[in-house]
Amino acid sequence: MTFGLGASHYGMNISDKTILITGANRGIGQALLNEALARGAKRVYAGMRTVVEHSDPRVTPLALDVTNVDDIQRAAAQIAELDLLINNAGIAKYDDLTRSTLIEEHFDVNFFGVFRMTQAFLPHLKRSKGAIINNLSLVALAPLPVIPSYAISKAAALNMTQSFRALLKADGVSVHASILGPIDTEMNRGLDIPKATTASAAQGIYDGLSREEEEIFPDPSSQQIAEGWRNGVAKALEHEFSAFVPATAAADVF
Ligand SMILES: NC(=O)c1ccc[n+]([C@@H]2O[C@H](COP(=O)([O-])OP(=O)(O)OC[C@H]3O[C@@H](n4cnc5c(N)ncnc54)[C@H](OP(=O)(O)O)[C@@H]3O)[C@@H](O)[C@H]2O)c1
Repeated sequence: MTFGLGASHYGMNISDKTILITGANRGIGQALLNEALARGAKRVYAGMRTVVEHSDPRVTPLALDVTNVDDIQRAAAQIAELDLLINNAGIAKYDDLTRSTLIEEHFDVNFFGVFRMTQAFLPHLKRSKGAIINNLSLVALAPLPVIPSYAISKAAALNMTQSFRALLKADGVSVHASILGPIDTEMNRGLDIPKATTASAAQGIYDGLSREEEEIFPDPSSQQIAEGWRNGVAKALEHEFSAFVPATAAADVF
């Protein structure tokens, strides 16, 4: 079962599309870059804090720290057209909710990073009637209390993703959350649990986009709860509450 919003551009096939990925230098971001190239993307802007050149001429590396407004504005000015923004950059640190600074640190990247990038690239995405994918986590749905600040930031980012989904519907921009389970990267190196490969996660994310899924569950762990999420009370409430947003484009109303 899918939960597309009905417009013809949904279910994006990334072949021949222009894509921007944050945190594209390693981990899941790098796998999303490679998979985009394999699927025939026209151009991939690879956001990185430390720029590394790429051998494929379709890749344009960008100096892009998602906490740095100047970096973001420069990137937005440099890019003329964009079909898909993937907010992938993220941080996760162990904590016990004793330091507010650590909550702020997580929010700066995992929440406000997504917010800043979305705002900066909305004009591009409205023009192309494009899509946004936010890389979130199972811990957005229930906290893993050894990384509570991370979980809180991802839960807030999921809630924001759902609001953007409703607010941007009339503009023709689709907004997706990728609800990732454990993937084999530096981020969870200390966790001794089964992990999916970055390549399979990247494939799952693009496959979910092409199937018009609001929440994409791209790996074996997350897939276990996909049906429960889609048929659950939180999803029903999201759809019910989204009806409060006027059907005309937000810019015409506010
Ligand atoms: N791995 C998992 O099991 C898992 C599970 C659920 C969700 N996720 C999510 O998936 C995304 C990618 O995670 P990953 O596992 O690939 O992590 P990773 O291997 O630790 O890579 C994190 C990436 O984010 C970048 N980054 C961090 N802070 C940034 C900033 N301020 N500006 C721009 N880029 C920044 C890093 O760049 P540098 O190289 O410069 O540090 C790196 O490219 C994250 O949002 C994460 O929360 C991962």
